[in-house]
This record gives sequence, C-alpha cells and structure tokens, in this order.
Amino acid sequence: MKSLKKLTGELRYNKRLNNNIIQNNMTPLDIVLFPDNGLREVCKPIPEMTDRLDKLIDDMFYTMYDAPGIGLAAPQVAVQERLIVVDVSEKGDQPIALMNPEIIQSSGSIDWEEGCLSLPGIYGKVTRPSDILVRGMNRDGKIIEFEANELQAICIQHEIDHLNGRLFIDHLSNLKRNRAVKKFHKEQADMQAEQS
Ligand code: NI
Repeated sequence: MKSLKKLTGELRYNKRLNNNIIQNNMTPLDIVLFPDNGLREVCKPIPEMTDRLDKLIDDMFYTMYDAPGIGLAAPQVAVQERLIVVDVSEKGDQPIALMNPEIIQSSGSIDWEEGCLSLPGIYGKVTRPSDILVRGMNRDGKIIEFEANELQAICIQHEIDHLNGRLFIDHLSNLKRNRAVKKFHKEQADMQAEQS
C-alpha cells in the first residue's frame, strides 16, 4: 500500500539507516505494476521459514521504505507466495513481516483513501473493518496473533487482498474503478511518452 504521508523516500530511508535496519546487502526489487497477471493470482502458502525468505523479507522492506510505501505483498515483487510486510508507523520503525496471514476476527468500519505501489498515482475510497485479529507466521517461524486497528488494520487487509489476487480498485464501484483504471493507463502512457 502506498503512503499518503508526505514523507519522501529518502527521509524514510535515512530513518531506516539510523536504525541500522537497512544494510548494504539489501536489494531494491522491481515493483510489478497493474495490469500484470501476477497480481491476479492466488499465492501459495509458505510451509516454513528459510534463509531465502529471510533475504526476501529484507529486500521487501527496503523496497517498501524506498518507494515509499506502508505495505508490500510478495506478488508485487513477482513472488507468488503468502508473505506481506507492513509498517504504518510515523518513523518507519515498526516493521511487521507476516507469512500466511489470516484475519480471524473483524469488527467496526472505516473509510480510507487507499493507494497501491502497483497502481502509482491513483487513489480510491475503500470501506473495510476497522479492527481485526490477525494470525500468521513471523520471521522467526513462530505463529503469532495480534490485534490491528485503523490504518494498520486497513494496510494488513489491503496486503492480504494482494495474496488472493485482489486489488483495492476491486472494492470500488464499476464507475469509479473504470475511471481509476483509465486514469492509470493514461498517466503510464504519458510517462512513457516523456521518457522516449
Ligand atoms: Ni497494494
């Protein structure tokens, strides 16, 4: 999910550097853009934590903070597995990586103007439960459960949607979705024209 905060990528990145979380060996990954078919697949469950996944999690955090974004799902970096990373904190110091995330309970309702790193430049108001209980595997390979509220709950639901081939625009009315997709294609075409 894309951040609506006016923090620049560089600022967030520097904060991460100060916290020694970003290290030299991290690689920014290419973000898969709409309408790539990979964004429409149901991703595979992850049986266990591995060194490959540990590296992927670091690279996904790097890519997310650099974008800047507040959440990223594995299919957005062309990996069709059930892994998400999220950090909705102001300082970018509360990273959560979760494998096989599930929502066990949900309640309340909240509207949010959502964006997505796979659909740069477009936003739309989505209504979701405001309070959720989440279960998943952390990067130590432990099954954890925790409560998430408001923006964190929205972001986790948005990222879990990605693992099921769902995008935030699917929550919009047909009219609003068509308008958003049209705007996206136009902006991408304009950008390509500028670059060539
Ligand atoms: Ni997204």
